[in-house]
Amino acid sequence: MPDDGLIAIKPEIAAKALVTAERRAAMAEQAATDPDGFWRGEMGRIAWMREPTKIKNTDFTGDVSIKWFEDGELNASVSCLDRHIASGRGDQVAIIWEGDDPASDSKTTYAQLHARVCQLANAMRKLGVKKRDRVCIYLPMIVEAAVAMLACARIGAVHSIVFGGFSPDSLASRIQDSECSLLITADEGRRGGRKVPLKVNADEALKSCPSVRNVIVARNTGTAVAMREGRDHEWAALCDAEPTQCEPERMNAEDPLFILYTSGSTGKPKGVLHTTGGYMVWASFTHELVFDYRPGEIYWCTADVGWVTGHTYIVYGPLANGAATLMFEGVPSWPDNGRFWQVVDKHQVNIFYTAPTAIRALMRDGEGPVKKHKRTSLRILGSVGEPINPEAWLWYYRVVGDERCPIVDTWWQTETGGILISPLPGAVAQKPGSATLPLPGVTPALVDGEGKFLEGATEGNLVITDSWPGQMRTVYGDHPRFVQTYFSTFPGLYFTGDGARRDADGYWWITGRVDDVINVAGHRMGTAEVESALVAHPKVAEAAVVGMPHELKGQGIYCYVTLNAGEEPSDALRKELVAWVRKEIGPIATPDAIQWAPGLPKTRSGKIMRRILRKIAANETDSLGDTSTLADPTVVQELVENRVG
Ligand code: PRX
Repeated sequence: MPDDGLIAIKPEIAAKALVTAERRAAMAEQAATDPDGFWRGEMGRIAWMREPTKIKNTDFTGDVSIKWFEDGELNASVSCLDRHIASGRGDQVAIIWEGDDPASDSKTTYAQLHARVCQLANAMRKLGVKKRDRVCIYLPMIVEAAVAMLACARIGAVHSIVFGGFSPDSLASRIQDSECSLLITADEGRRGGRKVPLKVNADEALKSCPSVRNVIVARNTGTAVAMREGRDHEWAALCDAEPTQCEPERMNAEDPLFILYTSGSTGKPKGVLHTTGGYMVWASFTHELVFDYRPGEIYWCTADVGWVTGHTYIVYGPLANGAATLMFEGVPSWPDNGRFWQVVDKHQVNIFYTAPTAIRALMRDGEGPVKKHKRTSLRILGSVGEPINPEAWLWYYRVVGDERCPIVDTWWQTETGGILISPLPGAVAQKPGSATLPLPGVTPALVDGEGKFLEGATEGNLVITDSWPGQMRTVYGDHPRFVQTYFSTFPGLYFTGDGARRDADGYWWITGRVDDVINVAGHRMGTAEVESALVAHPKVAEAAVVGMPHELKGQGIYCYVTLNAGEEPSDALRKELVAWVRKEIGPIATPDAIQWAPGLPKTRSGKIMRRILRKIAANETDSLGDTSTLADPTVVQELVENRVG
């Protein structure tokens, strides 16, 4: 089968699908011609305290203003909890938790989850947390993470989750930027049999975070941790005596729900701000359509709640839809590399959503570990986070799904709140490696470097021409940066930072970032962040970081480092720098290659020519292109000769 070959819609899926090809076309048509009517029809998928009368009010020009359902009022936690209980589903399982240790798991019903959320919400109110206050969550993949998110939503506090793999420095800068007054963490996390010292990291971070007045510590491993009198509180001691009911705050649709920091091409990570009404509608809409989700199905997204995928597709989307959502604390390779499939069988998972990097890693071990498990419960498979290469797609399809399960390759971003481009299982034929077609209400387009629209089968910069309800509203505390980052490159259009190709069938193929953002094992990172970590080392004069192709991780981190005069390169120093970056940012930023660079290729005006550095890192040194504008073209030859790897 050619890479471009269509894999037809499965008749047995289409026969029962929520959305067929005809229905999809009708939805897309209405969303395009009558957005207000279309979204008025969809907004009932969440619970409103006051129904909106105004639907869409968005403008991508000038100051950029994005409002959806702006006079509506709601509380996200009510949509995820109370109304399911009110409709008699309180005893249904909301969260299936599977521990890192295969012997530990738990089930939490909607009624139990509601009670725990209310208790924490009451406790937070007692600590003085109010509507619009920011709360940082630094937790492992335990049920308390979902409880903490929903408890914030309950009282109108804005959560900012920091991935448990981030360093104390990364945690501190995120807390400082949004001036969080409360931190919710745990004694330790667990991953692949190892422990992650969350409270120790938090204590280190809090040395430079005067805004944090209280810390709530969940007990996970039970290890003794330092507790500071007056500031640190044991979760259980604080919550257990609280009432299991808590009046939800009335939130305007455009009140913030959460902030999530993500990397861009320049500067520090930005606080992507999502609001309540539009985000919740988008989370529910996309979760139901893309996964063809049916009540009673067991749904598993393997992401961490520290990333946007965990926000929208472990917590808000599935819970809004009343699903049983599986939360997994572990890793795919521990205790052995059949772990995913063992969990699928154990909990009879119907819908499974993971990242290409995990698939590629498992592929390396062959079919054996997969075939040892039945996987007969699986119905739909999903992929997210980076382009999936056709080989990995086909392996996922043939080996994991036994050619029975459609694959939804979902393209989206932290900024988009939820999925924008993806097949719908019963409506869109698939092509291995293509995210296929936009969802109803999503209008992608391709533009050239000057912003001119490109028609037909071609490649270019991926933009979205009009707003959708789940779109981010601003960068927390810095609206000009929002406008500058997303709407200034191509005025009037949302620029994704991605490149894409559209084929003759109108299918979309995401080719990867066209800016200085790299995607390492599905984790998004700004090369500028790694560079600033490197130059903070006392022996480093200058650093330039680029992505390089990496068989498992998609992209690896390639660093060119210029040392201060008098410093000698050595293997020991290389190791020291690797450890340094891990400490500064976190293990996800571990450099894959460090090349000593006596000089970097710069233009006469001093700008580093990254295009050349990317080519050298990718070992494409016979196509370096024009180097005549360089201040000193000889540095290129030196770098090519001493390429690492
Ligand atoms: O480059 C695209 C890639 O991941 C970027 C967004 O990263 P982040 O905000 O961390 O969100 C990841 C989870 C949604 C995008 O700009 N990306 C994400 N999904 C895909 C993808 N690239 C290709 N295909 C995908 N399915």
